[in-house]
Amino acid sequence: MNLLITGGTVIDRTGERQIDVHVADGHIVEVCEPDVTIDATGLVVCPGFVDLHTHLREPGKEEAETIETGSRAAALGGYTAIVAMPNTDPTQDCVSVVDFVRRQGVIAGLCDVHPSASITVGRQGTQLTPFAELADAGVKLFTDDGNGVQDPQLMRRAFEYAKGLGITMAQHCEVEALTGGAVMHEGDCCSHLGLPGWPALAEELMVHRDIELVRLTGAPAHFLHLSTAKSVELVRAAKADGLPVTAEATPHHLSLTDELLRSYSAIYKVNPPLRTMDDVEAVRGGLADGTIDAIATDHAPHVAETKERPLDQAPPGMVGLETALGVAVAHLDMPLADIVATLSWKPAAIAGLEETHGCDIAPGSPANLAIFDPEARWEVVPAMLASKSNNTPFVGVPLAGKVVHTILNGQFTVRDGQAQR
Ligand code: DOR
Ligand code: ZN
Repeated sequence: MNLLITGGTVIDRTGERQIDVHVADGHIVEVCEPDVTIDATGLVVCPGFVDLHTHLREPGKEEAETIETGSRAAALGGYTAIVAMPNTDPTQDCVSVVDFVRRQGVIAGLCDVHPSASITVGRQGTQLTPFAELADAGVKLFTDDGNGVQDPQLMRRAFEYAKGLGITMAQHCEVEALTGGAVMHEGDCCSHLGLPGWPALAEELMVHRDIELVRLTGAPAHFLHLSTAKSVELVRAAKADGLPVTAEATPHHLSLTDELLRSYSAIYKVNPPLRTMDDVEAVRGGLADGTIDAIATDHAPHVAETKERPLDQAPPGMVGLETALGVAVAHLDMPLADIVATLSWKPAAIAGLEETHGCDIAPGSPANLAIFDPEARWEVVPAMLASKSNNTPFVGVPLAGKVVHTILNGQFTVRDGQAQR
């Protein structure tokens, strides 16, 4: 398909401009003889989004999501690439499982699925996975997400082995000795409700530990879903020291607070938990000044029956792929180009995908594109989500900015808001 996209505002790393975009043979070209012309007047045309943090649930929990349904949700959210989290069953801790996930992604054909692998075998926190072998198989990010690696000696070894392999340790920061039984953020709201709390300190201690391990070993670290003001401050200081650290924040941590738990609804239960307004503002500030590099969804589908359980029995997590842009544009007081940066080329670089995603919109680049209406105002309807699970906390929250088309290697995965497969 030769495609001409006219009248849009192109935003990429080089800035913002009004140009027509020509696509042929899966790439941006100087000029083409179009089979299809898209009128993008009033729309933003940008490199496709890259999610660093997607739980696809396959293999093992296909009742909540599959690689196909999660990829479809991603495409509808403007994503052309996603990093699949390894807390599957079996765990993505060896080449065969990683290859399975990658292959299923290719078969679904809705976005590039890049598996991450766990840091420890079975995410048990005791024995490192074969980093070199997994790196050879194309894995760039390693994480025990769902849990942090508790043992500092093991984590030190992980950083030491990682160094030189071109891979990055991505930490879910939680000192579990401080969070046992917790269902929400430890603070005023939690005390008032009489529920067991997850203190900010449990995250901050591990952020601090890993920053010091980066300083010691020189290996890079990526911090997953930062949620507290102090965590943001620690990463800001580490970057000022020139350390190779990056960080992400989720749509829910930049928009929602622990006050929502007053409903006792487990739809608002997530790990790390929703924090206070001061923390939300610190996360926004971190995104605005570049301390936090990327918005990552932590898309965590769970079947309705489990999220309807009482708070202490429900699993933590929220879906996020289809609402991330809408939340970001509605809640961030940042130039649109900077928001797009946090969704596209900055996460692409962290995932090691900069050759194929987040590329400048210029002749020769692969045509991986998102086209969205920055002025659209909308509300999410859970039953309409393409994800197999509906556990979104954004019902009734006004969203701004909606994806219209997503293009993967020059082909529509989403056209006029409809998934194409
Ligand atoms: O809320 C969360 N859900 N946090 C995690 O770290 C894991 C995730 C999941 O897998 O459901
Ligand atoms: Zn996590």
